[in-house]
Amino acid sequence: METDIRIFDTLESTNITLEHLARNDAKEGTCVIAFSQNAGQGRSGRSFFSPEGGNLYMSLLLRPKDDKQTEYITVIAAVAVVEAIEECFGIKTGIKWVNDVFLDGKKAGGIIAKANDYGKSSMFVVLGIGINIHEAPDVPEDIRPNYISLLGKASYSGSREQNESTVDLAKAIIRIFSRYYEGGLFTEAALKYRRYSVVIGKKVEYIFGQDTIEAIVCDIDDTGAIVLDTGGKIKAFRDGEIRIVVKDM
Ligand code: BTN
Repeated sequence: METDIRIFDTLESTNITLEHLARNDAKEGTCVIAFSQNAGQGRSGRSFFSPEGGNLYMSLLLRPKDDKQTEYITVIAAVAVVEAIEECFGIKTGIKWVNDVFLDGKKAGGIIAKANDYGKSSMFVVLGIGINIHEAPDVPEDIRPNYISLLGKASYSGSREQNESTVDLAKAIIRIFSRYYEGGLFTEAALKYRRYSVVIGKKVEYIFGQDTIEAIVCDIDDTGAIVLDTGGKIKAFRDGEIRIVVKDM
């Protein structure tokens, strides 16, 4: 994928800036990186804590050629992030369905893919990725219990070099993402996604809109859908979220 990386010190959200560029005909592979965000966006309308301090906040523009590429974006993104983190830092992370990056049972990052369907021929997807690399000193109380950074508190310097080094992780993510996405390696990506999953066999709460159901995760299928046992009934779900109820089973 030909990439065009644009780097900013602070933005409201890299997703917002990239969406604006996309509507003004930016090409697939355009990537916006910010060293901090004032209004980082998470999934389900949540915010994403985005302080300055050597963390990665990036958005990548995708203009999928067909439904298959569109369908597998989130699966491929999660696999690419896990593999890039291992390549850059030698740290093995896992995926908590649907798109959280997990380390030691806590969230080290998240991924959000937003399709903008404002005319079929010009459909695009903004793929937003946030990774906590160095732990900033002011992690808010409400997210602290579930928050982790890849390199921990001691690694934080707040320096310009630390900010700039995040670009290497972004480049590795884009390179690995492109291999699966442009090479059509969808089945391989789905198998890796299952292998990196940290939820198979776990007791979870499945949350869909206002509803919450207790379930056991049986599997992640070949499309990245989660297969749940909801008390005798086995069913695959593509949308929604899960909360892990019992951390170690
Ligand atoms: C989540 O865990 O809910 C998804 C978090 C995604 C955060 C990233 S940071 C870069 C990009 N810009 C945003 O505003 N959000 C995504």
